[in-house]
Order: sequence, then C-alpha cells, then structure tokens
Amino acid sequence: MRKKIVAGNWKMNLNFEEGQKLTSEIVNMFKDENLKDVIAVINPPFVHLYPAKKLIGDTPNLFLGSQNCSDKSSGAYTGEISAGMLASFGAKYVILGHSERREFFKETNELLTAKTRQALDNDLTPIFCCGEPLEIREAGTHEEYVKQQLTESLFGFSAEEMSKIVIAYEPIWAIGTGRTASSDQAQQMHAALRAHLAGKFGSDLANDISILYGGSCNPSNAKEIFSKPDVDGGLIGGASLKSRDFVEIIKSF
Ligand code: PGA
Repeated sequence: MRKKIVAGNWKMNLNFEEGQKLTSEIVNMFKDENLKDVIAVINPPFVHLYPAKKLIGDTPNLFLGSQNCSDKSSGAYTGEISAGMLASFGAKYVILGHSERREFFKETNELLTAKTRQALDNDLTPIFCCGEPLEIREAGTHEEYVKQQLTESLFGFSAEEMSKIVIAYEPIWAIGTGRTASSDQAQQMHAALRAHLAGKFGSDLANDISILYGGSCNPSNAKEIFSKPDVDGGLIGGASLKSRDFVEIIKSF
C-alpha cells in the first residue's frame, strides 16, 4: 500500500517567531483532528528545524523535512548543510530538485543523483521533484521531458533504493501562479510516471511509490486532485504557510 503524503514547502519565508507560531498551530490542529491516515511533513528553512522538532515531539504521522541538502557528506563546503546533519536534527524527509533550485541554483539531473544518494545514505526520504515548463507543455512533449528527469537522476539506483523515494510532480507553470493543473492533467502525468517506473523497476514497486502533485494546490481544489487514482498527495507551497489551509488540505483525503 502506498502512503498518502501531504508535505508543506515553506520556501524562504517566516522569521523565527512566525515559524514557531505556524508549527505550534499545525501540531495542535493535527492532534485535535486525529489525522492518522495521512503522513504530513513540514519542510521549513534550515534554521527552523530544531525548534520545529521540539514542537512536533512525537506527534504521530507528523514529520519534519528540509528543502535541500548538500551533495557532499562533509568537509570544506562553506554554507552547505549535509543530509547527515539534517538526520541528526530529527529530519525524516528532504525535498530535492525543486524547480526553483533547478532554475535559480542551476541544479542538474546529475547533481540531483548525488543529493539523492546522500539523502538515502542518511535515512532521509527524498521528495524528488520533477515537472515541465510551460513551453514544453504547450509543445506537447511534457511526458517525455519529465520521464527523462527521472531517468537521468534516479534510474541508476537499485530497486530497494528507489522504493524509498517519493516523487513530486510539479508543473512549473502551476507553481505559485494560482493556475493549477486540472485533476485529469495530474492523473495523466502521474500514470505515465508510474508506468515509466514500472518499466525500469517492475510494477509492484511502481505501485508502491507515492507520487505527489504540487502547484497551486489549496483547500478548494485538493479534494478533486487527490481523488485521482495515481495522485497520492501533495507538495504544498503558499497554502502551507496558513495552518488552517494546510490542515484542510490534509483532510481532503
Ligand atoms: P505552490 O508551490 O503551492 O505555492 O504553487 C508549490 C511548490 O513549489 O512546491
């Protein structure tokens, strides 16, 4: 059975106090609502990880992740943060290959293989992002484009390693734009990616991999998107900065 996951990506938002407030609100609502069928992950900026971990404590099904990690394990890499450090802070997940990192920080499919390797070696679950820009969608080559992202970054891993990776499909034209993909567009891509994974790793494994949708997901569209058979949850940006919205999205399952 594949897991249902809703992960919040705070991006570079919120100061220390605001981060504490948001985390506390989410923890309290999460406990009140008794949300046990869905795994929720909050992915704040690095500086929030430790205080957030304290606030989350052992709240069932609520986990901590980061938005990035280094492709190196340790050493003279000023400003970098390793997967091992993140794990030692209690992080369980790490978002890798977000389109903003690919675009603004020039992360390549090859670099993302090294980051994924670091995450796996340190028992972090990678939330591996993929997705096409608008011009590729309009040219109709979006499935090939996204499949190639997976092939180049992930197809060198063993089946056992692949089974520990979560995929997040995020069409770039839907991120932060208010223009979400339709549930049918999401389903079509997720099914194509699952078939692609099945071709390499076998259908049992592909059926067990969680594939999340991201891009302008909010409390009013999440239910429809999550109702699709190959959509196993969401990667939520803007709406994850409001505790009520984030929890409503989790409840959309
Ligand atoms: P959004 O961001 O929900 O604000 O569109 C999603 C993401 O970038 O992960």
